[in-house]
Amino acid sequence: MSAPKLIVGNWKMNGLTADSKQRVDALMAAKSAAFNMVLCPPATLINALNWWTKDSALKIGGQDCHAQASGAFTGNISAQMLKDLGCTHVIVGHSERRQYHKETSAEVAAKAKAAHEAGLIAIICIGETDAERTAGRANDVVSEQLAASVPDCATVDNTVIAYEPVWAIGTGKVASSDDIKGIHALIREKSVVKAQILYGGSVKGSNAAEILHLPNVDGVLVGGASLKADEFLAIANAA
Ligand code: 13P
Repeated sequence: MSAPKLIVGNWKMNGLTADSKQRVDALMAAKSAAFNMVLCPPATLINALNWWTKDSALKIGGQDCHAQASGAFTGNISAQMLKDLGCTHVIVGHSERRQYHKETSAEVAAKAKAAHEAGLIAIICIGETDAERTAGRANDVVSEQLAASVPDCATVDNTVIAYEPVWAIGTGKVASSDDIKGIHALIREKSVVKAQILYGGSVKGSNAAEILHLPNVDGVLVGGASLKADEFLAIANAA
């Protein structure tokens, strides 16, 4: 059998205790040799999710971390702190962080390094904007971000690459199978580390099977559809 697919839910800035408990209870029944599931809730819910899911196969991740282990960085959370709470993964370099917080690929690499030092798996996000794609620069942008965002300490065990075309995030516009095949093959070829490669951007139950079975697609990073347990389960069950 092929390696289990990695199904990651990024809740972004969504979720309060009551609705999250209901969602997690529904997901805990999900078990299959075909996939591994990671939930990335807002930091406020990480402790609760780790407690609720302690007897399940679900893993928990953070949505971001600081590059330093500790210090005078009000409002930030370090990779060590996420590890301390029981996280196994952390997303770094999400396009919303790159866009709204002006994070550069060098900063993303520093965060990924901090994640590795803390013993976390870094899910490193890369992807082109609509303007870059229209200008025919998608391959160049993805190659540049890949080269600059993955730190030297990356290994197959501590790193996952997520290709998330910015124009497909939260828009309902999913990349075509040919687009995904092309960019994932490029990432596979250019990546110095043989990491798993996820696709993200408007993944839902109805398109997950096609995406998950494309060559070089090792899983999916899901935003909106991960907030509905039945939809997220439909995606996982397509693996
Ligand atoms: P959507 O699935 O809502 O398009 O979001 C994708 C994403 O940004 C996951 O990190």
